[in-house]
Amino acid sequence: MVQTSDQLFRRQDYCPSGWLIDETRLEFVLAPEATRVKSEIIFQQNPSLDLKKDLSLDGKDLKLIHASIDGIELDQSLFTDSANGLTVPRDQLPEGQFVWQAEVEINPKGNTSLDGLYMSKGMYCTQCEPEGFRRICHYLDRPDILSKFTVRIDSPQQRPFILLSNGNLINSGDGFAEWHDPWPKPSYLFALVAGELVSVDDTFTTMSGRLVNLSIWVRPGDDANRCDYAMDALKRSMKWDEENYGREYDLDQFNIVAVDDFNMGAMENKGLNIFNSQLVLASSDTATDTDYERIESVIAHEYFHNWTGNRVTCRDWFQLSLKEGLTVFRDQQFSADMRSQDVTRIKDARMLRAVQFREDGGPLAHPVRPDTYREISNFYTSTVYNKGAELISMLWQMVGPASYRKALDLYFERHDGQACTVEDWIAAFEDSLDIDLAQFKIWYSQSGTPQISYHGHFKNNELQLTMEQETDATASQEQKYPLVIPILLALFDDNGSQILDEKLLLLTKAKETFHFPNLKGHPRLSILRKFSAPVTLKTPQTNEDALFALRHETDSFRRWDAGQQLLMATLKNAIIEDSEPSLELVDVLSRLVCDATLDPAFRALMLVLPPEIEVRQNMASEGHVLDPMKFFTVGENLNERLAQSLASELARQLRILSNNAPYSPDSEAAGRRSLRLALLRLLCRIDGGNEAGQIYQTANNMTEKIGALCALLSIQKGKEQLANFYSLWSHNRLVLDKWFSRQISEAHPDTAVELTASLTKHRDFDWTNPNRFRAVMGAFAFGNLAGFHTKDGSGYTLLADWLIKLDAKNPQLAARHCTAFESWRLYDQDRQEKMVQQLKRMRNAECVSKDSQEMLDRLLQEN
Ligand code: TRP
Ligand code: ZN
Repeated sequence: MVQTSDQLFRRQDYCPSGWLIDETRLEFVLAPEATRVKSEIIFQQNPSLDLKKDLSLDGKDLKLIHASIDGIELDQSLFTDSANGLTVPRDQLPEGQFVWQAEVEINPKGNTSLDGLYMSKGMYCTQCEPEGFRRICHYLDRPDILSKFTVRIDSPQQRPFILLSNGNLINSGDGFAEWHDPWPKPSYLFALVAGELVSVDDTFTTMSGRLVNLSIWVRPGDDANRCDYAMDALKRSMKWDEENYGREYDLDQFNIVAVDDFNMGAMENKGLNIFNSQLVLASSDTATDTDYERIESVIAHEYFHNWTGNRVTCRDWFQLSLKEGLTVFRDQQFSADMRSQDVTRIKDARMLRAVQFREDGGPLAHPVRPDTYREISNFYTSTVYNKGAELISMLWQMVGPASYRKALDLYFERHDGQACTVEDWIAAFEDSLDIDLAQFKIWYSQSGTPQISYHGHFKNNELQLTMEQETDATASQEQKYPLVIPILLALFDDNGSQILDEKLLLLTKAKETFHFPNLKGHPRLSILRKFSAPVTLKTPQTNEDALFALRHETDSFRRWDAGQQLLMATLKNAIIEDSEPSLELVDVLSRLVCDATLDPAFRALMLVLPPEIEVRQNMASEGHVLDPMKFFTVGENLNERLAQSLASELARQLRILSNNAPYSPDSEAAGRRSLRLALLRLLCRIDGGNEAGQIYQTANNMTEKIGALCALLSIQKGKEQLANFYSLWSHNRLVLDKWFSRQISEAHPDTAVELTASLTKHRDFDWTNPNRFRAVMGAFAFGNLAGFHTKDGSGYTLLADWLIKLDAKNPQLAARHCTAFESWRLYDQDRQEKMVQQLKRMRNAECVSKDSQEMLDRLLQEN
């Protein structure tokens, strides 16, 4: 379908293609500014449609050299060639089947969008999801068109280039290589990489005994020494998917390439995953524990896509969560198995609440399966990914692990090689388990975060628990329906003994009462254990109940959340009434943090204050507007109190937790370091940064080195160490990203605008590199809220200036950063006006991209 640039796509308008593709042969002759792409495509009329249709091929920024059908050159006057592709009228097309041959010229070096074929430091690489393939050749660039690909790459370069594409290598020689992928796939999974590369190699033997060659490709130099962890994570992922889903790898070769310029995290191209180098390269002196954790989960994520995404793909982009939600769920399960179930769950819940709840409560709210889009790149969101994963998690809880596995077996068996919909997914559960998921399906179409209120009534030894659900109207939807909400519950007596085994309640109505007979006294409620559904609890626990939970909870999520609730209440009181933090809370938290029977990683999480956005949303629902600077100072004050309360313990705990063993990124060691660093940040407030200065000097790993540096920066010290850090690491781009981002996110809000502006003038600030742009402007807009929201609006102007500039080169990246303004309606009048002014300025900028245009329109829309 040839489109105009402001077209609105509707899920309901799905139409099967009039033509299918049997086979695709591509030939690339690489040259930086004039790459030639010859395509030979075997088209077949779609047998399920009666009428012959025009052939509309997508194409973008392609210079057509020639095109022919069954060997007969096409007269240019017979088809329309536009900026968005070309259309050959049906009367020019043979019946049944034909061969299309075309040649186009493209300019990878001039492609700054990092979408399609582009260059990163002399290396050719591709990003085709969702619609980048149309920048490579004319094609039916839609996920329901599956074809086998054969790809020849010619590189008339002097230097020896490594030439990679999907599938298996079938032929190679001087300056050329030929690849064949036997698995039919949609064009968004196509990939090509060519450049001076070296590989780190290993092998994996699959459960049926096939040997697979594994390679991670990087640029020559140090990088090759930083691939071991990614390789190990890959092998563990392959094994895990065999053991837990019965899924085996299906090619002889699995390649991963690390690329420096990449818009997102990584991409699951068949047999040739392409990664942001940040998510591959790690050594103890350059990567933090968090980096290792992300590498492990993203390597797994992309690998898992081989089945959930590639073998079973999406019919259209509205179904994106079919692959992304499921694959995130799978990578979360994997991480939980590799690390701690409890801590992983808390981290996932925290992330969902901070990012997805914000999205769901603001102008960008959309369902897990959206109904409309203008630019699909804008819908690779936390809602589609993370809320999508929560939907799978709810299903998993509702049917149980064994039935879940049974349903997935049917899903793979039925749909291998197909392009599917959410309906197909749901049907696999309904048909294999004989259940009805009609109401559950509403989760896919309804946006907004459901709020649960509840109250318990105790009478005649029976607890009557009444729960209500309500979802506010959202930007895209007025009407809301009751959902199926699995609520994991337990009951405690006043002594802290659990008196009811965990039970999964299914709330299906707007209001429903559950009965628990034969109880001795009024029990204490433990509700939404394990964060069993992506909802908020509207009924606040009393402080007394929350303190009780902090002491007696057996569910880590609930225990952590009780702490969050108390901290939230404390922050709110301090903000609204200027009151001091409750001594009891500080006392209980201090004791938890020093409790050696608890997992250190959990103890560290207990010390993290609720994110600003949560406090902001919570206060907004009560009619208050949170001042960003006030939040900052109140948070500082609370940390001060915690530091004082723990004062006598801090140094001792730091010693207990220290570790002389060589660095290991395993989750236990990482957990200890995370607690150590959380305590170090508190200690800084007492010893003026003494200990942090020591640790900075002596640390044998990046986690503690940068952790100590951040602790110093957080008390406005560490200038010297910051300079030292630069001199040590200015040659390493990934570490230098940390140098940029941490000083900005740790900066005092009063200095953040000026600092950020000055860092954009630093000689190492390369704004065309997405990692570097994120390290500076992302760290500022998302990581230093009080700074970004500086009262005079200078933070807004600074970001808008840069986004206007970036948008002209890299629309995807610019559009993503527009979300920094997502919650503008939750600010005071003055700030609102200043934000709207900048949003409008960006919207009216000359040549605003389709990507940013859509984001800005949605941000500004009245509702
Ligand atoms: N599908 C990829 C993943 O989930 C992410 C992705 C989507 C992407 N669009 C992209 C990556 C554009 C880079 C650029 O892992
Ligand atoms: Zn994905």
